[in-house]
Amino acid sequence: MIFSPNSLAWPLTLFGLVAAGLRSTLASSLYTPPELAHQLKDSGARMIFVHPTLFPVLIKTFGLLGISDHEARRRVVIMSYVDQDRADEKAAKIGPEWTRLNELFGEGRLHSEELFVGDQAHETAFLTTGLSKGVELTHRNIIALVTCFLTCFEKADPKTDVTAAPLPFYHIALMMNLMCDFVAQVPEVIVPRFEPNSFAKTIEQYKVSRMHFVPPILVTMSFHPAFDKHNMTTLKLLSGGAAPLGDGLVNKVLAKFADRGNNQLKITQGYGLTETASQTHWLKVQDSMRKVGSVGWLLPNLQARLVDDDENDIKPGPENRGELWVRGPTVMKGYWNNPTATKRAITPDGWFKTGDIVIVDDEDFFRVVDRKKELIKYKGFQVPPAELEALLLSKEDILDAAVIGVQSPEEATELPCAYIVASRNAELLKDPKAAAAFGEEVQRWMKPKVSHYKYLRGGVFIIEAIPKTGSGKILRSNLRELAKKQRLEQALQSRL
Ligand SMILES: *[C@@H]1O[C@H](CO)[C@@H](O)[C@H](O)[C@H]1NC(C)=O
Repeated sequence: MIFSPNSLAWPLTLFGLVAAGLRSTLASSLYTPPELAHQLKDSGARMIFVHPTLFPVLIKTFGLLGISDHEARRRVVIMSYVDQDRADEKAAKIGPEWTRLNELFGEGRLHSEELFVGDQAHETAFLTTGLSKGVELTHRNIIALVTCFLTCFEKADPKTDVTAAPLPFYHIALMMNLMCDFVAQVPEVIVPRFEPNSFAKTIEQYKVSRMHFVPPILVTMSFHPAFDKHNMTTLKLLSGGAAPLGDGLVNKVLAKFADRGNNQLKITQGYGLTETASQTHWLKVQDSMRKVGSVGWLLPNLQARLVDDDENDIKPGPENRGELWVRGPTVMKGYWNNPTATKRAITPDGWFKTGDIVIVDDEDFFRVVDRKKELIKYKGFQVPPAELEALLLSKEDILDAAVIGVQSPEEATELPCAYIVASRNAELLKDPKAAAAFGEEVQRWMKPKVSHYKYLRGGVFIIEAIPKTGSGKILRSNLRELAKKQRLEQALQSRL
């Protein structure tokens, strides 16, 4: 397991593990001890590579799992590589008894990297496991995608281009970008986290020409003074994914940069899922202005279908929405330890059901218009509603709960929002002030239990009953409608 924010040690660890023929699982660096404990147990990871800054979280996790000190010392490698890491080691009071990454260098025991050829190409290389379902990606999946990226995307020039991604490597899309940059020998600036001032400075200092973003980062770039203060003229290409990107935002950023002397900037986006080893679609730069909002063409070697709710094929056309199914060498092996979910997601003849509703125009450009699946995307992070619902239900005075994502135009992201039936419902429904206070109490109660991106930022509301189907499934679309109505009413009230 790799448990680290972006750092220089990260790629070394990743490539080292692959070369040694080990299967790795990537943990979110934002995880709390209970979340990490779940991933450790679920993945069965035996060795943990941890960055010094996260060492205290790991130790707490071991406490939860009842792992002894002796056992822990055999299982952990501290990801120290640069001077800053050593300073972080000191701060975390990591003693000399723990193994350091650099102690593993130069042992000279591996004469060549482990190869995965023939049938072995179908062995799992990476396991992304979280509280939502773990995804098994094989060596073939990864190679198929890297090959495809490097042959059909606008090539970066190793001599002049510099890339940067202020997004975490444990996110499959960023890990793939890291690998592609590595294979293409394009320098990549490693950014531990997105902070506008230091990131703008980084762009200037390293003359960054390409960067990856999620829409909320673009929002920040559109207004934050740091991006006025520093020299942004080297930026040529911003590429996004993870959430739909509107033309309003794209044009705003382009105008701002043009205003400050950067007329070469282009903004484009792709589409893909962890289950497809990231990108299945990519909007070529030359089409990026003409087709803003589209995720582009299907990548080579992949097939796509559009199906309706009864799984009948739909003819593509500007009016015809359907669920996107894809098939090809980048489709995952399956969900980890979850044959039922795998069977539900992949048909016997290999079609992966993305759960996203798309439209294909007459030039074969795809546009994602809706999501059938339930995951909420907060600034590129995946928030599984079922997990938050289960947590809410564990609170004594909550009888029923449903969590949905509500779109925030200001922040260009979805926000997790909860609807709750409380034991004091009768009283709360009559008293908006008490309901609001209860909502805030629930928000506070949630905070120490989950990573920050799962906070109920969209609000907590009291509802008479959670709308459900006969079989007990939450009718999320009804709740989304309700949320829209509430927002509208709020907006009207604030105007009156
Ligand atoms: C910004 O950076 C570019 C490329 O390094 C350089 O040519 C240009 O002179 C700089 N502009 C200013 C105002 O410093």
